[in-house]
Amino acid sequence: MTIDIKPIDPVSRAFFAGEVSGIDLTRRLSDAEVAAIHAGMDRFGVLVFHDQHLTDDQQLAFSRQLGPLETATGDIAAPEERRLSMDVNDISNLDKHGKVVARDDRRRLFGLGNLLWHSDSSFKDVPAKYSLLSARQIPATGGNTEFADMRAAYDALDEVAKREVHDLVCLHSQIYSRGMLGFEEFTEAERQKWAPVRQRLVRRHPATGRLSLYLASHAGGIEGWPVPEARAFLRDLTEHATQRQFVYAHVWKPFDLVMWDNRVTMHRARRYDPTEVRDMRRTTLTNEVSSLEQAP
Ligand code: OGA
Ligand code: MN
Repeated sequence: MTIDIKPIDPVSRAFFAGEVSGIDLTRRLSDAEVAAIHAGMDRFGVLVFHDQHLTDDQQLAFSRQLGPLETATGDIAAPEERRLSMDVNDISNLDKHGKVVARDDRRRLFGLGNLLWHSDSSFKDVPAKYSLLSARQIPATGGNTEFADMRAAYDALDEVAKREVHDLVCLHSQIYSRGMLGFEEFTEAERQKWAPVRQRLVRRHPATGRLSLYLASHAGGIEGWPVPEARAFLRDLTEHATQRQFVYAHVWKPFDLVMWDNRVTMHRARRYDPTEVRDMRRTTLTNEVSSLEQAP
């Protein structure tokens, strides 16, 4: 088996979202395979692997071959209510007994924040590098995941806008993104844990040198700007960055694994029937440094 990576849509997006074949992620990868995956991520920002029947331990072992992991401290579920280990983000609608949660379940309502365009863990000082999402069980329809190419979005800004965003620093918090959907029921401890953090609005990818807009629904302010002006501007930029020509929509099949680089993409989940099971598991690589250290 030799690893091969091709653009999913060579006509309209030759450099965004690649499809990988010739690899079995359940076993230990060779150094050459690991290098090919990193190179594919640098080129495409999103990689899709099909038919990868992973256990959580296999997903963790594969993820660790790519770099150090972050832990799931962005989750609202109390440790004793968690279904999975702290190294795995539970992106499902299931409780710890494997039952679909109620429509008004607090964890579900918090998780609906994933329907808004975001970049994983931008609300942490040290945000995420790659996210690896494995589909174990999916609903009959709906529940796609969409990805936006933030390199292409940056490149498409006019020169005035590029100058304006160049040195801006945004404030990111899960309190903002959830608040946008009217979810306000945070405990005092959660408010402290998720106090706003600073992230650059434009960051440079350390391997490719390309610049990206670093946006997320978690961004609720721009340092030195009045809040309404900042939020209106962030909305404009998000609208620009998520135009259809920058977006790849992934239609899941069971045992797909999709990996994305949070430094150069935003993503969002799409709606699905909340009475159907959707069981997805996410492992996440840490960026190891803040975006503040990846200046343009
Ligand atoms: C995530 C996420 C989207 C989805 O796992 O980080 O945002 O479609 N998932 O579940
Ligand atoms: Mn996410």
